[in-house]
Amino acid sequence: MDAHEPFHFADREELLGAAARLNVFLPFEEDIAVLFDPVEIGGKRLVNRFAVLPMEGFDATADGSPGELTIRRYLRYAGGGSALIWFEATSILQEGRSNPHQLLLNKKTIDGFKRLVETTRREALRVLGSGQNLFLVLQLTHSGRYSKPDGRPRPLAAVTKPSLDNNLPPVRIVSDDELDRMLDAVAVAASLARQADFDAVDIKACHGYLAHDLLSAFDRADSRYGGDFRGRVRWIEEAVKRIRDREPRLGVTARLNVFDGLRPPEGWGTSAKDALQPDMAEPTALIRRFIDLGCGFMNITAGIPYLNPHLGRPFDRPVSGAEKPPEHPLAGVARLIGLCATLQNSFSGIPFIGTGYSWLRQFFPQVAAGVINAGKAALVGLGRSSFAYPEAPRDLMEKGKLDSKKMCTSCSRCTELMRAGGPTGCAVRDEYYRGRSDPHGDV
Ligand SMILES: Cc1cc2nc3c(=O)[nH]c(=O)nc-3n(C[C@H](O)[C@H](O)[C@H](O)COP(=O)(O)O)c2cc1C
Repeated sequence: MDAHEPFHFADREELLGAAARLNVFLPFEEDIAVLFDPVEIGGKRLVNRFAVLPMEGFDATADGSPGELTIRRYLRYAGGGSALIWFEATSILQEGRSNPHQLLLNKKTIDGFKRLVETTRREALRVLGSGQNLFLVLQLTHSGRYSKPDGRPRPLAAVTKPSLDNNLPPVRIVSDDELDRMLDAVAVAASLARQADFDAVDIKACHGYLAHDLLSAFDRADSRYGGDFRGRVRWIEEAVKRIRDREPRLGVTARLNVFDGLRPPEGWGTSAKDALQPDMAEPTALIRRFIDLGCGFMNITAGIPYLNPHLGRPFDRPVSGAEKPPEHPLAGVARLIGLCATLQNSFSGIPFIGTGYSWLRQFFPQVAAGVINAGKAALVGLGRSSFAYPEAPRDLMEKGKLDSKKMCTSCSRCTELMRAGGPTGCAVRDEYYRGRSDPHGDV
């Protein structure tokens, strides 16, 4: 079998045969009823096990308020049937935006967020009825090394990392004072999120952005936020504590990279000897601390999209100009499922939301049902599939099957739109984005 090959499976036997040849474990359950079992998160009873994962849309207005396309995306999710919607990376500071059209939460934009949440909740009730008690999470972030508030790279990093810095202008190292001020900004943003009626916030600690970058800040000299494990996790722990103190009724979590595929000292969650080998000791210790601090649910992810995107979002086709990944996408899917399973086993009282199912197309429900039945996750999270086919959960509920013409093809066009800096969505299945070669277009 080729190291990489596109999705080509006609039935269960072909898919499981490929998993066997790759020597990876893929749970599979024909009966998907478990996906419609209720589950409790943060004191709220959700009617099903589907979650929309956070996906940046770069369609906010200049001041960071949700724009028309933002509202369109969340209405599609709300009517699609997922009980949990994890809102995309939203900057806590203007200078930390990854794009001039990234969402920004502050006192000036709060009214737009209130409207967005209210419209999203109303749409779910309209389409799905009074049982649809949505759980809404807002992802708070500072883009750090990948900041582009005015469209040009303004990299701000915890430490220099040659593997990541090679293609960037000179990287500025964030000071401890700046990090202290960012803690204040996180706490303010969390209060605003509560006012906007989100159920929970997530401090984004994944994919190379600032809070994740700090977790591998082994070589930060004379700093409280680096060095040993305690120093490297201090900022994110402090952020969780501040939110808990200030907003005790707001849920809090951190979307966490548990495997970077980059050896220490540049990465974390990775064996010092082999970049392809996860080492879960530190991520497990950090999750234990999160739980002690009151985090009631978790989602984990892997890889750094600018370096090794196949680890976090297995695909058929890489972005234009990039090389084919060195591994089979099914191996990537199985790794993400396995990492989540290991942690769900260790922390059985906390619901984990699985990541990395979009590549499985028509088989994602059966694999998710197998995973959830085996207690290896509590919910299934869908990223690119939610751009392409947000109503997949509703189709499964109402028609008992998926429509193959609506599925994500894992073609990386959404990532290309995002990298080009314009509004982002599915360029294959969503008529608004279809054929858009100039994403800056007319929006
Ligand atoms: C265009 C695009 C935007 C994304 N935006 C975010 C984001 O805002 N926050 C985040 O944590 N992950 C983001 N991700 C990662 C997804 O949430 C998800 O982890 C990944 O796509 C794998 O899930 P999937 O296989 O269901 O797509 C993004 C991915 C893509 C392709």
